[in-house]
Amino acid sequence: MSDLTSDQQQDFLHTAIRAAKAAAHIHQSGVGQNLNIATKSNETDLVTRIDKESEARIRELLLTAYPEHVVLGEEEGQGGTEQDAQVPYRWIVDPLDGTLNYAHGFPFYCVSIGLEVHGRLEVGVVLDSVRNELFTAVRGGGALLNGAPIAVTQETELRRSMLATGFAYDPESATDNVAVMGRMLGRCRTVRRPGAAALDLAYVACGRIDGFWELKLNAWDVAAGVLLVSEAGGRVTGGNGEPYNVHEKVLVSSNGTIHESLLAALELPAALLQK
Ligand code: IPD
Ligand code: CA
Ligand code: CA
Repeated sequence: MSDLTSDQQQDFLHTAIRAAKAAAHIHQSGVGQNLNIATKSNETDLVTRIDKESEARIRELLLTAYPEHVVLGEEEGQGGTEQDAQVPYRWIVDPLDGTLNYAHGFPFYCVSIGLEVHGRLEVGVVLDSVRNELFTAVRGGGALLNGAPIAVTQETELRRSMLATGFAYDPESATDNVAVMGRMLGRCRTVRRPGAAALDLAYVACGRIDGFWELKLNAWDVAAGVLLVSEAGGRVTGGNGEPYNVHEKVLVSSNGTIHESLLAALELPAALLQK
C-alpha cells in the first residue's frame, strides 16, 4: 500500500513520464551527431554530452513541477547526502542508462526515473529510447508496458531460465562477476549481458528474462526498475536474500519462484555480501 493518494501518484507518474520522454528525445536527437565523448574513471566509463543534457532537462522539468523536491542524478550527483535522504521526496535519475551502448551505436539504452517518498519507492519509469517502450509502476498499482499490465514469468526451474547480468566499469568488480557468470552458464539456459541495468530490470518485470543480477550498481541504475519488478510480481533482494535497498551494491532479481535457487547458484563471494 502507498501513503500517497492515487491522484498524487498519478501526478508524479505523469511528470516522470514527461521528463523521461524529453530525455529519450534528446538521446535520439544525438544519434549520428558529435557526442563529445569523455572518459570518467577509465576507458570503459564514458560520459557524453547527451548524458549531461538529458539530466539537465529532467532536473528542470522535475524541479519546476516540484521545487521542494530533491533530485539525485548520476551526472550532477546532487541529492545523495544523508540529509537529502531525509527529505520527503527524492527523485533518483539515470538520464541515460547504457551509455557505452549509446556511444557505440548499439541500440539498447534508456532513461530511468524513480521517486522515493520518505525513503520508499513510489513511482518508477523506464523508457527505452530506441523502441519507445515505456515501463511504468506506482506502488500498489502494478506495472505496465505502454499502458498494458505486465508480469514476471512463471518459470519454476533455474535450469530452464534465461538470465541477464552486467559488469561494472571498474576491472576488479567486472572480474568478480566473470567468475559468477561462468558458474551460472552451466546452471541456467543462458546469461545475457544487454548493457543497461534499468532495462534489464524492466525485462524481468515483463517476462522477457527470468532473472537479473549485478554486483556493483548505483541507486540511479535501479530505483525505477526495482519497483517495476516488485509491482510485476517478482522479487528483488541483496546477495543474502535480504530485502533490497537502492544503496546496496549487489542486486538479485527474479520472477520470485526461482529466487532461492538463483541465490544459491550464484555462490556470491562472502566479501561482496552485506553483513
Ligand atoms: C551502466 C549500465 C550497465 C551496468 C553498469 C552501469 P550507465 O550504467 O547499467 O548495464 O552493467 O553497472 O553502470 O553508466 O550506462 O548509466
Ligand atoms: Ca546506469
Ligand atoms: Ca547513466
